[in-house]
Amino acid sequence: MERDIKTLLAQMTLEEKASLCCGDGFWNTTALPQHGIPAMILTDGPHGLRKQLGTADHLGLNESIKTTCFPTAAGTAASWNRELINKIGVALGEECQAEDVQIILGPGANIKRSPLCGRNFEYFSEDPYLSGQMAASHIKGVQSQGIGTSLKHFAVNNQETRRFNIDAVIDERTLREIYLASFEGAVVEAQPWTVMCAYNKINGEFCSQNKTLLTDILKNEWGFEGFVVSDWFAVSERDKGLAAGLDLEMPTSAGIGKQTILDAVKNGTVSESLLDEAAERILRIVFRSMDGKKQNAVYDKTAHHRLAKDAAAESMVLLKNKDKILPLSKSGSIAVIGGFAKQPRYQGAGSSHINPTRIDIPYEEIEKAAGEAVIRYSAGYALDNETVDGAMINAAKETAARADVCIVFAGLPERMDSEGKDRKHLRLPENQLIVIEEIAKVQQNTVVVLSNGSAVEMPWEGAVKGILEAYLGGQAMGSAVAGILFGDINPSGKLAETFPVKLSDTPCYINFPGEKTKVEYREGIFTGYRYYDKAGVEPLFPFGYGLSYTDFAYSDLRLDKKEMPDSGELSVSVTVKNTGTVTGKEIVQLYVRDVESGVLRPPKELKGFEKVELKPGEEKAVAFTLTKRAFAYYHTGLADWYVESGDFEIMIGTSSQDIVLTETVHVTSTVKEKKNYTIDSTLADIKDEPAAAPLLAMMSGNLKGGEELGLDLDALFSSIKIQSLIAISGGKMTMDTLRQMLNEMNG
Ligand code: BGC
Repeated sequence: MERDIKTLLAQMTLEEKASLCCGDGFWNTTALPQHGIPAMILTDGPHGLRKQLGTADHLGLNESIKTTCFPTAAGTAASWNRELINKIGVALGEECQAEDVQIILGPGANIKRSPLCGRNFEYFSEDPYLSGQMAASHIKGVQSQGIGTSLKHFAVNNQETRRFNIDAVIDERTLREIYLASFEGAVVEAQPWTVMCAYNKINGEFCSQNKTLLTDILKNEWGFEGFVVSDWFAVSERDKGLAAGLDLEMPTSAGIGKQTILDAVKNGTVSESLLDEAAERILRIVFRSMDGKKQNAVYDKTAHHRLAKDAAAESMVLLKNKDKILPLSKSGSIAVIGGFAKQPRYQGAGSSHINPTRIDIPYEEIEKAAGEAVIRYSAGYALDNETVDGAMINAAKETAARADVCIVFAGLPERMDSEGKDRKHLRLPENQLIVIEEIAKVQQNTVVVLSNGSAVEMPWEGAVKGILEAYLGGQAMGSAVAGILFGDINPSGKLAETFPVKLSDTPCYINFPGEKTKVEYREGIFTGYRYYDKAGVEPLFPFGYGLSYTDFAYSDLRLDKKEMPDSGELSVSVTVKNTGTVTGKEIVQLYVRDVESGVLRPPKELKGFEKVELKPGEEKAVAFTLTKRAFAYYHTGLADWYVESGDFEIMIGTSSQDIVLTETVHVTSTVKEKKNYTIDSTLADIKDEPAAAPLLAMMSGNLKGGEELGLDLDALFSSIKIQSLIAISGGKMTMDTLRQMLNEMNG
């Protein structure tokens, strides 16, 4: 419906406009019935709908209505399946329509800086491209149903420790290339209706009142059309927030926020036009949600449960399958060990906590899927504490020893995958660790099924034959696990994060979670695999890794050109073939490497991926298109993305560490990098400048001799400062001649 929002705004009082910019209640925006403006409900999200009818809270403490619990983002990202995530989004949108919710909070696009972050289960990846793509697919799915999303938590909210006031100190290039890029991809591609600002500060300024972040970058540079909402209770000074681009404060601040805005507009510290702009952004979304409202909407709970199962199955990553221990035979005897088999871990703790419509219990699903096989169960460990119980362990060992094969369900209890708290270590609970180790001693055919929202250390990895990372698989996790264990489903997930051997191997180990109120991102752009690659640290399982019950072969990598300007497009294609005996899905990954660079760059970066399904013997060509951003780094001097002219390798990998095919393209920059030589520059800096040629020739002539002393004249020569030439030349060169030369070179 066409509405004249400007005319409507002109009819509204200052007070009405200010109240529109402040929540009314825990989950509602303010209604202005006199202007035909209803309240909207914004509620969590992201992997299911959390609508509270009774007492409201932002920590997942009180009851919410029953809705479908899908796998959390850590899992869905491991599917690398845009279409699947889009379908989950559609289902979430349908549930919102049925439950009269207008905006479902999420997805979370924060980067996994450390596996210790308590909320990693809610985030997609350590890689900004993958994370942005997954977030965009989620947003498009939800919004296709006339329901809004809230991309969160913008930005650099990568830890739970002191999440309300931590100051993330970060350099601009890292901010742009890693932490903002994940949001940028989602905003530019999917236009979420809202973006939720984070609690923390960036370089000294709260996100909720950070103009560079909310206005200059998000709205002006990326063209974000929706409104910015605060994370719950993130507002510090409402007037400064409004001036910075924070449109809506949530939840209600009992009139305080509104009064602060009114005072600021009246005393001129914030202009009324800024308030109008915020109100206009909010109104546009209110009207969009009114137009998108479907009357008498219902959804199919069974179909959504089925989708939750498909999603869970694709989210799981087969990490180890020695001697093809999996899939299991449907005969013989199977020991099932671990409390999680009967009380599954399938979601994280905190504001995303869902009250599921039903739950598939892994143990029951295994019984159903096992055919003739005899199943015996033993708990092995307690779920609510870490005490090692000798009697429980002995009983579990006995059950395991009597069977042909043993499945141990292990993972992190909910208290360790939790909003508001980071983990202190990457170990499994002590009692689970001991159970796995003890069982592996008596049963050589042991498979561990893990339920956790983020990487764990596996000192027992060498002692077991199979490892299935099931992540937090949502309400249908149990049936998906059973399907994979018995081969009814072929696993197809690959890690969207690196699993380190030990915590001290992780990129920000020394600087996480910071000291006092500050955390410094000293590892810079080297997050995740960018660090492991660069530092040569061997991970336990690399980014992009995951096994299948079939095999794939790659051939025929083709680039449509050998050279191009950075304004051009590169078409890449590669053929993938299923060389095994069962149908499977492969995730084809494309990485780009700048062969030689004048600035620090990661050895490779993910710039494309596709998931393809192939029957045995079938092959398909997979196509990618690469544009400037795939080759660029963020140039802080230019304040823009910049491609340094040179060769770039296009690498196709089955993981970040298994590159199977490589081709090279030469890309030429169309942007002139501004030169800024000064008298403090060195001879090495100007060595390629034509204007410097006579000077350099003269200098190298003067510096003849010395080789016999073993001196590296080139190195000595290169490090000389231009200003020093005045003294070195005995005054023959003057400051004036040098400046003239510098001016010429700087253009
Ligand atoms: C969380 C958000 C959540 C909000 C509302 C906050 O504490 O950080 O992710 O959407 O509460 O529950």
